[in-house]
Amino acid sequence: MSNGPTSFLDLKSLSKTQILNLFERARQLKAKPGKLLTTGERVALLFFEPSTRTRMSFESAAYRFGLGPLVFDGGPNTSLEKGETVEDSVLNVAAMGPRFLVVRCGDAVDLEALSKLVSMPILNAGWGVKGHPTQALLDVFTVQENLVHLEGLRFLILGDVRHSRVAASHFELLSKLGVEVGICGPDEFMVQNPQAKIFTDLEQALSWAQVAMALRVQFERHGVGNVGQESKELYRQKFGLSSRSLRAFSKDGIILHPGPINHGIELETEVLSDPRCRVLEQVKNGVFVREALLRELYEN
Ligand code: CP
Repeated sequence: MSNGPTSFLDLKSLSKTQILNLFERARQLKAKPGKLLTTGERVALLFFEPSTRTRMSFESAAYRFGLGPLVFDGGPNTSLEKGETVEDSVLNVAAMGPRFLVVRCGDAVDLEALSKLVSMPILNAGWGVKGHPTQALLDVFTVQENLVHLEGLRFLILGDVRHSRVAASHFELLSKLGVEVGICGPDEFMVQNPQAKIFTDLEQALSWAQVAMALRVQFERHGVGNVGQESKELYRQKFGLSSRSLRAFSKDGIILHPGPINHGIELETEVLSDPRCRVLEQVKNGVFVREALLRELYEN
């Protein structure tokens, strides 16, 4: 489970067995709390981009494991305001000796290079558009809890695939588990990926899928000014999940969204009460999957 000696920056080096063992560990931790560390060690959570779920979920996971969380919320009241770089911030917090560095940052930061300069593992908590490996793990853990068999499962990723680090990590993860991947969305959001079946029609895509994961439209990564209401409305009509569009989806299917949600764009609020929707279960499971990962990396 490594990129540098012990860091966790992507899912490329994880084997299917390691992934399934991690899920089993998360399942056990969800059923019964694990043993608490009493060593007084800490984990630094360095978030240079906004987050609610990932940051608080790592923080919860740290408390459940007995690691004291040191939270750096990279905004006001940090020395970033005085012009300190992200890299210097990471190295200075590393000098305080936490057991792990959990980092969320943009693409411009070279986490691989940083992982060679510090003496503790760096965990990717969302790195630009490169990847968000713990999100992909918790998504698939949630699916496994509900559908059990992953091999041959048809998993649809809907919407802004091009700008999504979550989709990037799913491309690494799903093929290892024998899951079939479909993508659907406007041409400008699609990517060429030999693993993925491309759909241009939402109804066809939903008829094919057993899991439908809507992605947040990443307006902030499109490099244009405010997106007009007209194009948002067009997106909603063609690719939005709603009670109406979900009539084409299996009654036993699973609906996911990594959050945060653009209500009324990629997903109508009513979908959150659909019995197939597991959005808050994903968030809950994020704590156990991240705790399992921290424990695994701590021991190895
Ligand atoms: N899914 C996710 O990464 O959410 P946050 O940005 O709130 O952490």
